[in-house]
Amino acid sequence: MEYRNLGRSGLKVSPISLGTNAFGGRADEATSIAVVHKALDSGINLIDTADTYMGGESERIIGLALQGRRTQAVLATKGWFPMGEGPNDRGLSRKHILDAVDASLRRLQTDYIDLYQMHNWDPETPLEETLETLNDLVGSGKVRYIGCSNFAGWQFVKALGISERRGWARFISNQPEYSPANRKIERDVIPAGIAEGVGQIVYFPLAGGLFTGKYKRNEAPPEDSRAITQGERFKNRWMTDRNFTLVERMTEIAAEAGISLPHLAIAWAMAKPGITSAIVGASKVAQLADNIGACEAKLTPEVIKRVDEVSADFV
Ligand SMILES: NC(=O)c1ccc[n+]([C@@H]2O[C@H](COP(=O)([O-])OP(=O)(O)OC[C@H]3O[C@@H](n4cnc5c(N)ncnc54)[C@H](OP(=O)(O)O)[C@@H]3O)[C@@H](O)[C@H]2O)c1
Repeated sequence: MEYRNLGRSGLKVSPISLGTNAFGGRADEATSIAVVHKALDSGINLIDTADTYMGGESERIIGLALQGRRTQAVLATKGWFPMGEGPNDRGLSRKHILDAVDASLRRLQTDYIDLYQMHNWDPETPLEETLETLNDLVGSGKVRYIGCSNFAGWQFVKALGISERRGWARFISNQPEYSPANRKIERDVIPAGIAEGVGQIVYFPLAGGLFTGKYKRNEAPPEDSRAITQGERFKNRWMTDRNFTLVERMTEIAAEAGISLPHLAIAWAMAKPGITSAIVGASKVAQLADNIGACEAKLTPEVIKRVDEVSADFV
């Protein structure tokens, strides 16, 4: 595994990271623990979770899986989503962040989080309040590095300016959606990240599973897939004519390049400038074992260009 520095930091992370929002849901506890162990055994060190995933179950199960193996993992979690009914049980206020970090640490059974990410922008809290709180958490040792998620370029650049002026810990990463089916971050987020030393850890590189090739135009989805459990929401979001045309073109490119469709999609995301790691979710050990193969798929510049061309409408 070739590790990469995350943003402008010394933290080394794998170019594929483990997505865990199926833990405690589509993946039961035993399967989820086996998936984490498979990831670590294969050299994947970045494990991404959030307090909100399955109401805290994802963090709890990761805590179990990391017993005795904590230092092998770069453990990344997030806060922002509502975790209770109260007005302070959400967002990026000092009160909520401090409560949320303590709750995450309890569920994860650890005394530090490697990367603490702001899950979304909070327009109702002054950015200074959030950043000072994060700086305090880094100082206390509860958090080692800080990042954000779903931030626009201007939002994290504004945050970096404040951190720099105040001498506070800075964001080293952002976590946006990115795949050939959604390249919007190429307009602004990626250039801002490259200019400012903020690495992108991207989610949905398989477009919810579309680039596994298991969903076909005019065919019923496989029985054990997310399209069945999520129903109309999944179908409306992903199973569109436009996306199926893209999948069909990508399938041709993969066949000509002699690699599988999921490997092409993941390796394409990993190869793009400014992208540090692609988060791949897995509800089964076999899925993860298959997806790890993307690390070996070295795409030629011509193959990358062809994917860029067939997905040009998605920028
Ligand atoms: N920051 C954010 O706001 C945000 C938002 C969303 C996600 N995320 C992160 O990104 C992670 C990845 O999300 P995701 O899992 O939805 O993204 P994804 O990588 O686009 O989709 C992966 C899904 O495709 C299916 N799959 C994967 N490999 C397969 C294989 N080899 N063969 C067949 N099916 C396969 C699995 O779904 P099924 O088996 O269920 O069909 C798997 O869960 C999440 O776990 C989370 O950590 C972050």
